[in-house]
Amino acid sequence: MCGIVGYLGKDDVISVIISGLKRLEYRGYDSCGFSVYDKKGQDLTLKTVGRVAALEKMAESLDFEAVCGIGHSRWATHGLVTEKNAHPHFDCKKEIFLVHNGIIENYKEIKKKLLERGHKFVSDTDTEVLVHLIEEFFKGNLEEAVHRALKYIKGAYAIAVISKKDPGKIVVARKSSPLVFSVEKNRAIVASDPTPILPFSDKVVFLEDDELAVLTPEGFKVFDFEKKQKIREPQVLDWTIEESEKGGFSHFMLKEIFEEPEAVENSIRGRIVLDEGIAKLGGLEMVSDKLSKIDRLILVACGTASYACMVGEYMIEENAEIPVEVDVASEFRYRNPILDKKTAFLAVSQSGETADTLAALREAKRKGLLSLGVVNMVGSSITRETEAGVYNHIGPEIAVAATKSFISQLSILALLTVFLGRQRNMSLSKGQEILGALKKLPDLMRETLKENDEKMKNLAEKYSKYRNFIFLGRKYNYPVALEGALKLKEIAFYIHAEGFPTGEIKHGPIALADENLPFFFIAPKDSVYDKVVSNMEEVRARKAPIIAITTKGNSELEKIADDVIYVPQTIEMLMPILNTIPLHLFAYYMGNILGCDVDKPRNLAKSVTVE
Ligand code: F6R
Repeated sequence: MCGIVGYLGKDDVISVIISGLKRLEYRGYDSCGFSVYDKKGQDLTLKTVGRVAALEKMAESLDFEAVCGIGHSRWATHGLVTEKNAHPHFDCKKEIFLVHNGIIENYKEIKKKLLERGHKFVSDTDTEVLVHLIEEFFKGNLEEAVHRALKYIKGAYAIAVISKKDPGKIVVARKSSPLVFSVEKNRAIVASDPTPILPFSDKVVFLEDDELAVLTPEGFKVFDFEKKQKIREPQVLDWTIEESEKGGFSHFMLKEIFEEPEAVENSIRGRIVLDEGIAKLGGLEMVSDKLSKIDRLILVACGTASYACMVGEYMIEENAEIPVEVDVASEFRYRNPILDKKTAFLAVSQSGETADTLAALREAKRKGLLSLGVVNMVGSSITRETEAGVYNHIGPEIAVAATKSFISQLSILALLTVFLGRQRNMSLSKGQEILGALKKLPDLMRETLKENDEKMKNLAEKYSKYRNFIFLGRKYNYPVALEGALKLKEIAFYIHAEGFPTGEIKHGPIALADENLPFFFIAPKDSVYDKVVSNMEEVRARKAPIIAITTKGNSELEKIADDVIYVPQTIEMLMPILNTIPLHLFAYYMGNILGCDVDKPRNLAKSVTVE
């Protein structure tokens, strides 16, 4: 996730771009830059590592009367955080400039061909290939060249392109990444969200997937990728700037819950080869041989990320048949784990900076283990200190509570299961079954959100007088119960919640059951469903309120539970992804009802860099 701004008009172009980028910094902020040109066709590009304030400082002393420009605030995906990797990128002749948000999956193949044709690259990014490809097709008409170039691109993108050889226009296009623009009163402005636009206009057009638009100060034209013009009327937006940053949601946490389907899409994009039933994890390629020889895997993380690891343990042991051990990092670092060289160590962390996870990783390395990471923050400490790894590619998670990162970690662990399994005994059809189900998951997640958002809000209202909750799940859904409980106690801070494996209740927790303690049962129609129902009956007999999450079509729980939440069917190992969604919504709405600062729960920090 990066931030894009483009501007064409009579205002101070550089100031408009810089203030727009500042508003988009929440989308990513490891480096930034802009490219502009003036009336005479002279251009200027300025880039820096760090935040937009640094770029602003550099621009203060400039004497350049720009008429058009584009800017970008980066969240690295390909290539380190360096000035040369910051956007905008440009062609060999420095006549075409481009900013991009997204991932170009097939950039390696395209780059190879462009190098053969003599193009000179200056960065390590996937993005740079696109501007050189546009250069290949450029014959004086920018939109024509962009249109032709995009035919070769696989992946996700929102782009804004300008050229001093075809001045007075900004060409924009979108596939899977957001882009919105406004053309009014002789100015055209485009951005990743409406926040940079709102100071100028409330009439905006949200570009849709597979659309390309040409913006000039006088007007705009929108085309589909077959070059057919489309009629798009601007809509009036009554959002404040703050609401617009949150995409119209009242909090980042809710926005990020609604981004969970997209998080899975971004984490699996370009990593599934369905025909061959394999997961292509580029970051593990160089250790692929070593991984094929390991006979044990240790997954280490903290908090929510450790619950993702627990699901990963079930996935990998059941499908890839490698013994897996999960440890919370704060324990791993102080016990004496017996490790041998055929064990691999995998740290899972959204931030890549969690002190305990980092210390555990160092301990594993000291003992000579192959060290791997699943991390969201590119260039973070864990990514630098592991031998190899997989990025989540989900953009920044701003709310303190981990939501979309948990879901993304689960999808990557599913990919890893196939990666390791196919190196061993996993059949082609099993690999295809898991990957096929993963591909279908984002749509099922959207369905789950749509059907349960209002329900979970009402449910939170109904149960808001309770101060204690128990969450129960079995097998794949035991860690989901832990996640439901953690999220509730974290966000709705007067509430105490605990999670247990369902089968454990008779060994203690059932002593608590009475009408004052609601029980959440995660009870999909899976291999342990009947056992879970027996436990539910035991709780019912003690008159405790029951909320059950189960598979659509299974109405029998309505007889036992007070409230039943339905989620669609997928394969058993992926059910945690669907079952977590209502629990995240429940925690959010409960926190909201209780008046908590849901994005910044008390006593908690987003990145725990101390022990
Ligand atoms: C819970 C939460 C924490 C983090 C944990 C690990 O909502 O956010 O439990 O999951 O602190 O953080 P990372 O993944 O950054 O290592």
